Amino acid sequence: MTSRRTEKLLKYDREHIVGSRWAIGGNNGIVLEKGYGIYLQDTEGTTYIDSGSQLICVNLGYSQQEIINAIRDELEKLPFGMLFFGFTNDATVECARKLSGIVPPGLDHFNFTTSGSGAVELAIRMSRLYSSAKGTGKYKIIALYDSYHGTTGGGLGATGMGRGGLTRGVTPVMPGFIHIPSYYCYRCMFGLKYPGCDINCARYLNEVIEKEGANNIAAFIAEPEMGASGMIAPPPEYWPIVREICRKHDVLCIADEVMCGFGRTGKMFTVEHWNIRPDIIIMSKGITGAYMPFGAVAFSAEIWQALIGRGLTSYTFAGHPASAAASIKAIEIYLRDKVVENAAEMGKYAMERLKKEFLPLPCVGEVSGLGLMIGIEIVADKKTRKPFDLKLNITQRIQDEGLEKGIYLRVSDIGTTPGDRIAFCPPLIITREEVDKALDILYSIVGNLKP
Ligand SMILES: Cc1ncc(COP(=O)(O)O)c(C=O)c1O
Repeated sequence: MTSRRTEKLLKYDREHIVGSRWAIGGNNGIVLEKGYGIYLQDTEGTTYIDSGSQLICVNLGYSQQEIINAIRDELEKLPFGMLFFGFTNDATVECARKLSGIVPPGLDHFNFTTSGSGAVELAIRMSRLYSSAKGTGKYKIIALYDSYHGTTGGGLGATGMGRGGLTRGVTPVMPGFIHIPSYYCYRCMFGLKYPGCDINCARYLNEVIEKEGANNIAAFIAEPEMGASGMIAPPPEYWPIVREICRKHDVLCIADEVMCGFGRTGKMFTVEHWNIRPDIIIMSKGITGAYMPFGAVAFSAEIWQALIGRGLTSYTFAGHPASAAASIKAIEIYLRDKVVENAAEMGKYAMERLKKEFLPLPCVGEVSGLGLMIGIEIVADKKTRKPFDLKLNITQRIQDEGLEKGIYLRVSDIGTTPGDRIAFCPPLIITREEVDKALDILYSIVGNLKP
């Protein structure tokens, strides 16, 4: 029996708070109250392994007392500090310095904000402003189908997954975006097979730029590994090819690392897997380990030079000193505790188990991803790759069963995303024993799915 306190909280939530996954006016009956290590606990005292780091953001788990202390210390010193009218503050400057030590070389200029969407908006605005400053007036942005970049104006304009669903009732979305097929090999829009495809999806960018006219294209934006659509990693050739195409046409290359940055894929930033340097990296989520809302756009000296003297502001809470303090401490922990290395090692271990034990199962179509950003595609028919009937609500059922068994599973379903997928994206501090515990429960669910 659920306690009266929990019932009251749930009722108020249902009637007043937007937060339900698909519709206003619902919740899943759980009120979160505490977190420790990789675990979440609700108001009934039930604990769950957080195998999705909630929104793939709690990279450092829930017990980082040093971050909490850093936030408290900063709030006692300077509860707020604006980045407007020429003012700055010591925490934000120190945070920029720390970030410059971990981003790919040459991206040591920053524009701060409070969220991933906010950072995407800034990157879009900056790339158009850059074109205007250079006198080219380019404004179109090329993005990928199956991508996710947020639900604000520019973020939704760039988002390519579920365009029918996500934009329903809120059209027109911001104009000026062109979508091209993504690197989702399992359901290739060109009907090709890797590696025989010659990475057609990457080369197609060239064709589209030429057809649209390079003098119209301000930027290309993509996630180095696609997250919201189900943890889909590109073939290794993809990013070097698109990077070169952007360079050839003088189109800015924007890597949206809001989800895949900060160690998630086993490198501090995912573009490091292929040794490429985009012009802009967008970051948020793991930047504070999710202990405070924060976001940043890291960009090149060339863009900085072009934008000097231009009116480019961010938002009221951009560079909030408490968020900056949280980020400084989080970066120290990532480096000191070798969190990124742990993500690589645990990711490799999890992937080995998934390939060996899960992939042969009748309902597992593919397992993909880098580091601890792993996706498992669920299908009704392995041969034809046919998904389960939408009416069966398969991923929701998997998530519900997970909660009953003590694990939170992040799922994405074919209604909005390109496939029915379960994510394995736990906090990056996870141990091998905890990986085993999580995968054992997951196996007990996926292993029993019937086509
Ligand atoms: C790649 C990417 N970009 C942008 C966003 C939007 O970030 P936020 O929800 O913080 O606004 C997300 C959120 O999941 C994301 O994964």
